[in-house]
Amino acid sequence: MYPVWQLPVAGSALVIAFIASFHILPSHLATSAFWFNVYVENKSYKENKPELLEFIKKYVLVILIFSFVFGSLSGVGIWYAITVSNPKGISAVIHNYVWGWASEWVFFIIEILAIYIYYYTLGKVDKKTHLTIGLIYAIGAWISMVIITGIIAFMLSPGQWLKTGGFFDGFFNPTYLPQLLMRTSHIFAIAGLYAIVVAGTLKNREVKSFIIKKASLWGMAGSVLAALFFKWYLWSLPNTAEELYKMNVLIPDIIPHVVAAAFIVLFVWFIVVWIRPQWARLIPGILAIFILFAGVFSAESIRERIRKPYVIDHYLYSNQIISNDMPSKNIKSNIGDIDREGILHYSYFVPEGLKTINNTNMLQAGEIIAQIECSACHTLESNGWLRPLPSMVEKAGLISVDTAQALIGFLNAFPFMPQFAGTVREKEALATYLVSLYPPGSKAAYAPELQRRSVSADHIKIVKLHR
Ligand code: HEC
Repeated sequence: MYPVWQLPVAGSALVIAFIASFHILPSHLATSAFWFNVYVENKSYKENKPELLEFIKKYVLVILIFSFVFGSLSGVGIWYAITVSNPKGISAVIHNYVWGWASEWVFFIIEILAIYIYYYTLGKVDKKTHLTIGLIYAIGAWISMVIITGIIAFMLSPGQWLKTGGFFDGFFNPTYLPQLLMRTSHIFAIAGLYAIVVAGTLKNREVKSFIIKKASLWGMAGSVLAALFFKWYLWSLPNTAEELYKMNVLIPDIIPHVVAAAFIVLFVWFIVVWIRPQWARLIPGILAIFILFAGVFSAESIRERIRKPYVIDHYLYSNQIISNDMPSKNIKSNIGDIDREGILHYSYFVPEGLKTINNTNMLQAGEIIAQIECSACHTLESNGWLRPLPSMVEKAGLISVDTAQALIGFLNAFPFMPQFAGTVREKEALATYLVSLYPPGSKAAYAPELQRRSVSADHIKIVKLHR
């Protein structure tokens, strides 16, 4: 978000990715663990094994500290980071789903109350009441996931909402059910994985092996179901997202490989500890959580990548420009206005001297245009972490394009980048800036004599599909 929050080198998108990915670890534990707790507590009463409660006490304490301290901190961190880096995106999501978030917070409060009551009343109230408190937590946490998944899936595949603007049309969107079922199965596996780590630290060998044997079965069943629903999720993707999924520019092969490898390693780990519960020590357990993290991080990053160039598919680009008209809400695409007025006039905070382009401020104006329209996905520095523009420009061979118009046309042909919005002068300024990013020594000018790089037939096909 120029110029409110700009993060040289790292790029704001990566900050969100880091905070949100860390958040996965405590939040998934918080949504999953109580199903396992209630299951174990019930067993302990039914089979008259009070010693199992020793595990529950420990497990709940881990959830309280890890999920409720670090989970809350990172959860609030996500809100801060997305608000400063993409205020229009967050505004769009809040305007449509304010009641969604509000009800999610109600369930979140239920969760917080329930976990404290559960922890402090263990062994002090009658068994049935205590189990009910555990169940209230488990269901409350799951419902908060039911709601959040709707909103996340809405951003990827808003479905009928694009026509009607209706709350439930966007909520029950084409990828909602597969995502919900995938996440629901997966949290059972995650509950098992964390339970194995906690049980590994118990002294009582019998309790330890009882818990680990059950938890590993949960792990195996949850993983297999999640993998099946993941397949369904891929099938349910809108055409455009599916095309993007197949493009290995956008999703390097390594990413699905990490997801598959994490699945296999964890599955083997569940089998190993199921056979030999005594092997479930703390260190391998924590390593397993790191592997889980790598897998989940990669899977979530697939969603973020295939949503490109949008924050909300076919409605809002990552760079906060509204891409399509939405008559049902009386919203017009920003592109026409920006093409007429110019992005430098249209954006707030652009210094007066740069609003009108002349021969002396061309380069500077070009840089600001790149800040506004490109920096959501590219860092401008050559040592940047997030798709640094200088190496992108070099990779694309942009100097071989002979006019600014052609250069921007070339960029517009990529389905994963927003359509450039701005005046002809602004295109020239951006082109001048991009060409200036060439490493010293190269021909920093439009060079028609060099062989032109044309847009491939494949790109054109995908672009047609996309717009
Ligand atoms: C929505 C995110 C997004 C935005 C905004 C965006 N890009 Fe990109 N851009 C990408 C992605 C993703 C790639 C592919 C990355 C790769 O090849 O590793 C890419 C690749 C490129 C490339 C290399 C193309 C090639 O030949 O492979 C150039 C040049 C580029 N972008 C320039 C720009 C410019 C200039 C802007 C601003 C006008 C911009 N991008 C805005 C996401 C974006």
